[in-house]
Amino acid sequence: MRSTIIAFGILSIGIASCKTSDKTVATPKVLLNCDNATYTYVTDIAPIMQQNCTRCHNTNMKAGYNFNELESVKKAAENGYLLGTIKHMDGYDAMPRMAGKLDQVIIDKIECWIKTGMK
Ligand code: HEC
Repeated sequence: MRSTIIAFGILSIGIASCKTSDKTVATPKVLLNCDNATYTYVTDIAPIMQQNCTRCHNTNMKAGYNFNELESVKKAAENGYLLGTIKHMDGYDAMPRMAGKLDQVIIDKIECWIKTGMK
């Protein structure tokens, strides 16, 4: 019974997040403002990659990336695959694979880090 409640909870969150993203499509897109962003690889990006990506993309170089390395993160940022995959854009494999989409705040953080020069 308890697991049914948990499963239902997860399902509801899933449905709720679908609704939110439909709404984003319908309303005019607000451009992401990174003016005050001071994200850095070491303090902000590396922990996100370690939590969500390096389980698969490590020294095995899955799909050509070891996300424990800044070099790989920059490569994916520069060729567009980093944002393409985490934003679930058409033409990109959705990442993290077999898990929910990252929270929008995390996606924004990564996008601002890229826009502000990947320091
Ligand atoms: C459960 C394992 C797993 C996790 C976790 C994972 N990936 Fe992947 N990733 C893969 C596999 C496997 C591929 C190869 C393509 C495929 O089969 O989807 C891949 C491919 C990619 C590619 C290349 C996509 C393309 O279209 O060529 C990128 C970029 C990528 N992943 C980024 C990420 C990022 C960023 C994260 C964390 C937010 C992440 N992945 C988390 C397994 C994973």
